[in-house]
Amino acid sequence: MSKVKCAVIGLGMGKFHAQSFLENEDAEIVGLADVNPDLLAETGKRFEVEALFSDYREMLDSVKPDLVTVALPNFLHEEVVVDALDSGSHVLCEKPLAMKLEQGERMREAAIRAGRQLGVNLSYRFTPAGRALKALVDDGFLGEAYHAYTRWTRCDGFPKFGGWFGQKKLSGGGPLIDLGVHRIDLAMWLMGSPTPVTVSGVTHHRIGVERAKIENKAFDVEDFASGVVRFDNGASLILEASWGGYQEKKEDMHTRVMGDKGCLIHQNIGESYDFEGRFVKTEGGQLLRGEVVVSDQGVTDSYGEMVACLKEDRPFSVTVEDGMRIQRVLDGLYASAESGCEVSFEKPVMSHTA
Ligand SMILES: NC(=O)c1ccc[n+]([C@@H]2O[C@H](COP(=O)([O-])OP(=O)(O)OC[C@H]3O[C@@H](n4cnc5c(N)ncnc54)[C@H](O)[C@@H]3O)[C@@H](O)[C@H]2O)c1
Repeated sequence: MSKVKCAVIGLGMGKFHAQSFLENEDAEIVGLADVNPDLLAETGKRFEVEALFSDYREMLDSVKPDLVTVALPNFLHEEVVVDALDSGSHVLCEKPLAMKLEQGERMREAAIRAGRQLGVNLSYRFTPAGRALKALVDDGFLGEAYHAYTRWTRCDGFPKFGGWFGQKKLSGGGPLIDLGVHRIDLAMWLMGSPTPVTVSGVTHHRIGVERAKIENKAFDVEDFASGVVRFDNGASLILEASWGGYQEKKEDMHTRVMGDKGCLIHQNIGESYDFEGRFVKTEGGQLLRGEVVVSDQGVTDSYGEMVACLKEDRPFSVTVEDGMRIQRVLDGLYASAESGCEVSFEKPVMSHTA
């Protein structure tokens, strides 16, 4: 394969996909699709792409991309991903993989049927800090990971209030499925991908629903969620996700994984989307704390990594099974929040991918 022919469907977050492809000498943007004509024209102009489509199926038929990235509202992921796979493209789907596990199962079947890769954009694994921490984990830094705490909380960060994000039938849920998905995935990945066996979740609807009444907008999802996950190896995970609520930082992302030999932390710097890695360990009887050395040398983002995988004919690291494993946790947390009871998973979801 010379250059990987890439197409993007959905040009909100999808603009970042296109930007990455534009800067990648192994990639070529062969088409962009969005139902918003102004956004489509403006994005086409910005990235100097002439093959613009309001109907993504027309794009799949006419430009035959090697890789399609899907950055659409969550309720469209299944249908569009399956269409793209059926048309012969590999696919990188935005997180969350789907709104429910059954949809993920059908997406996985479509990938197997088509013999194509289906990756999930759990993009925080690709941050330089995330990679540096994973390298330490793989090197045995933590010993045995037995507990993690993970959060992404905002004090006032409702995405596009009144739009699809806040409507359960279009999004699948609120900040838990939107933000929590990233931090739960990061924590479980750094814990060595143990298998979840039970979850207990709580959701709160304190701010968004009231605001929607005043502004006469649609909103029926939680604005805060918390939960506990137990794993088959006895490890535990505590999580929080919010779009709104009283707290000091506007944007607060923090994941701490504790092992019997040390502790690793991935967090945003200040209120930014820049990340640092930190460690705590003992050496010679002394407690040591510090910053993990992070280098962005040779680090690609998830889009660049997917292009490299296709060029070199190797699997992308974040698979549909990874997306499904998180989806099962999210589904369980929502079910638990609704019933007020712990949810137990009868059988583990597929094999681990560390
Ligand atoms: N990985 C990340 O960090 C990250 C960040 C932001 C969003 N996301 C995910 O990306 C996805 C999209 O989120 P967003 O913020 O870009 O939403 P958005 O609403 O800003 O953008 C969605 C775009 O899809 C277009 N669209 C809707 N229906 C379409 C159709 N049938 N065909 C073609 N285009 C269509 C809309 O016109 C819009 O431009 C979501 O799944 C979200 O969770 C991921």
